[in-house]
Order: sequence, then structure tokens, then C-alpha cells
Amino acid sequence: MRSLLAWLTAVLTVLLAAGWIGLRLTAAPARVDVPSPVQPARATESPRFSTTLRPGPATPRVRTGTADAQGPITVACSTCHQTTKPNPELRSAAELKQFHRGLEYRHGSLTCLSCHQASNYDALRLADGSTIPFAETMTLCSQCHGQKRRDYDHGAHGGMQGFWDLSRGPRTRNTCVHCHDPHAPAQPFVQPVLPPRDRLSVPAKSP
Ligand code: HEC
Ligand code: HEC
Ligand code: HEC
Ligand code: HEC
Repeated sequence: MRSLLAWLTAVLTVLLAAGWIGLRLTAAPARVDVPSPVQPARATESPRFSTTLRPGPATPRVRTGTADAQGPITVACSTCHQTTKPNPELRSAAELKQFHRGLEYRHGSLTCLSCHQASNYDALRLADGSTIPFAETMTLCSQCHGQKRRDYDHGAHGGMQGFWDLSRGPRTRNTCVHCHDPHAPAQPFVQPVLPPRDRLSVPAKSP
């Protein structure tokens, strides 16, 4: 009789213990600290410095070949284009007979007016017809090259100067046209030693 009682007690203890462990196990996942999805991805970074974009090209002008005391005289694009009829079919440099001869142009089958604003040649045009200044070429390129823009935003494309860790120092980034000519954007075969050519640091020939 005594041994039976002892045996029953032992079985009960084992069952209770198993039940307790089971409860702990099922309760456990609720205690895991899942980060809230609304938190920023790198909440610990607490950046003290910021990322700045290098200024892109200024609104282009055309040199007249004459000069005054201030230097070469230039005219705005709209000077002629207010009176010329925009040509929405033009998509090759070979067709440029009257002006802009020698322009290097290889960019898919885009027409000139895919990017230039027909109602204002001193500005650029987005696909929806809206006007943006030349300073915002990044927006222009990104609407057709979304994947490259995402790579750029992640830091996998487009390079940078300064610090990855923004708690240590500031970061400077290029715009697309610091490296790509908008008219002939292909990069030459990648050289193992030379970095991509920086178009805008090359000293300007006109002021
Ligand atoms: C001296 C006058 C003149 C100036 C200044 C000028 N253009 Fe033009 N542009 C022309 C002429 C003429 C054509 C037509 C060329 C042809 O069809 O052979 C043309 C054609 C173009 C085209 C092709 C589309 C179209 O409407 O024919 C674009 C884009 C363009 N110009 C942009 C510019 C930009 C940007 C500037 C400023 C940097 C500029 N142009 C300054 C005279 C000018
Ligand atoms: C993919 C967009 C895009 C297309 C397509 C495009 N341009 Fe441009 N163009 C630009 C941008 C951006 C600039 C600003 C200058 C720079 O970044 O070098 C520019 C500048 C110019 C300039 C002034 C500076 C220079 O390089 O002489 C002329 C002239 C010009 N474009 C004419 C044309 C003509 C003509 C065509 C068609 C054969 C054309 N563009 C097609 C984006 C474009
Ligand atoms: C309206 C749409 C459009 C815009 C705006 C545009 N692109 Fe493109 N881009 C294209 C197309 C289409 C191609 C050709 C793709 C192909 O042939 O596979 C191309 C090709 C390219 C290539 C590859 C060239 C090659 O030969 O391999 C580069 C680099 C490029 N674009 C950069 C730019 C940059 C920089 C800008 C802004 C100045 C820009 N693109 C604006 C449509 C666009
Ligand atoms: C620091 C210089 C640099 C900057 C800034 C840059 N690129 Fe590029 N890009 C390159 C080089 C170099 C290549 C050729 C090697 C490669 O494919 O990665 C290239 C290739 C490309 C290609 C062709 C890729 C292919 O698969 O054929 C496209 C499109 C392009 N870039 C778009 C962009 C756009 C859009 C931006 C701006 C958001 C940009 N790039 C900014 C240097 C640059």
C-alpha cells in the first residue's frame, strides 16, 4: 500500500512538471520582443550628420562665340526655342542639321522631347508632362530607371564620399549626371583602376 502511494505521488509529480514545462513552452513565444514595424530600420544609428547631394549641372546656355568685359557671352536655350517649332519626332543626332551638330546621342529610342520641355527649353520634362528644373535631373532619370534608383538609395550604386556611419561624419553623394552623360549614358568598359569619370569637376570651358 505504501509503495503504491509513493508510486502514485511520483507519477503525479512527473505529470505536473511536464504540464508546467508545456505551459512555459507555449507561453514563451508571446514574450519574444518583436521590433515594431513602424520603427526605423536603423533606430540605433541616431545620425548626427546628414547626407548632402552634390549640386547637379546648372541650366545650360549656349555660347555665342563673342565676349565682353565679363567674359564670353551666352544665351539661354529659350532665346531660339521661343520661335522654333518643337520637333517631337527627333531622336537621333544625325538628324540635327541646323544646330547642335556634333551632339553625341545614344539613349535607347528616346526622343529629345522625352526629357526636354517643349514649352520651355530652359527646363526638363517628366513623363507626365510636368516641368522640372535642370537641377533636378535625378527625378528625371529615376522615373525610367527605378531599379538603379533603388540601388542608389541603398548605396549599391552611384558612389559616395565621406562616412557610411552618419554618427561619425557627413556624407556627400553624386547625382546620376555626375557620371552619366544624359545623351550617351553608357559607361565605357569598366577599368579595374580608373574610377568613373566625374563630368562636372572637369573645368568648364565657359563661365
Ligand atoms: C541659336 C539658336 C539655338 C539655341 C541657342 C538653342 N537651340 Fe536647340 N535647336 C535649335 C535649332 C535650329 C534646332 C533644330 C535643329 C535641326 O532640326 O536641325 C534645335 C533643336 C533642339 C532640340 C531637338 C528638338 C527640337 O525641338 O527640334 C532640343 C532638345 C534642343 N534644341 C535643346 C536646346 C537646349 C537645351 C538649348 C540650350 C543649351 C538649345 N537648344 C539652344 C536652335 C537653338
Ligand atoms: C534622357 C534625357 C535627355 C534626352 C533624351 C535628351 N536630353 Fe538634352 N539634356 C538632358 C540633360 C539632363 C541636360 C543637362 C546638361 C547635362 O547634364 O550635361 C541636357 C542638355 C542638353 C543641351 C545643352 C548642353 C549640351 O550638352 O550641349 C542640348 C543642346 C541638348 N540637351 C539637346 C538635346 C537634343 C538635341 C536631344 C535629342 C537628340 C536631347 N538633348 C535629348 C537630358 C536629355
Ligand atoms: C523616358 C525614359 C528614360 C529617361 C527619362 C532616362 N532613361 Fe536612360 N534609358 C532609357 C531606355 C529606354 C534605355 C535603353 C535600354 C536598353 O536599350 O536596354 C536607357 C538606357 C540607359 C543606360 C544604359 C546605356 C547602355 O547603353 O547600356 C544608362 C546608363 C541610362 N539610361 C542612364 C540614364 C540617366 C543618367 C538618365 C537621366 C539623365 C536617364 N537614363 C533617363 C530610358 C530612359
Ligand atoms: C559614381 C558614378 C555613378 C553614379 C552617380 C551613377 N552611376 Fe549608373 N553606372 C555607373 C557605372 C560605372 C556603371 C556601369 C557598371 C554597372 O553596370 O554598374 C553604371 C551603370 C548604369 C546603368 C546601366 C546598367 C545596366 O545594367 O546596363 C544604368 C541604367 C544606370 N547606371 C543608371 C543610373 C542612375 C539612374 C543613376 C542616378 C540615380 C546613376 N546611374 C548614378 C556609375 C554611376
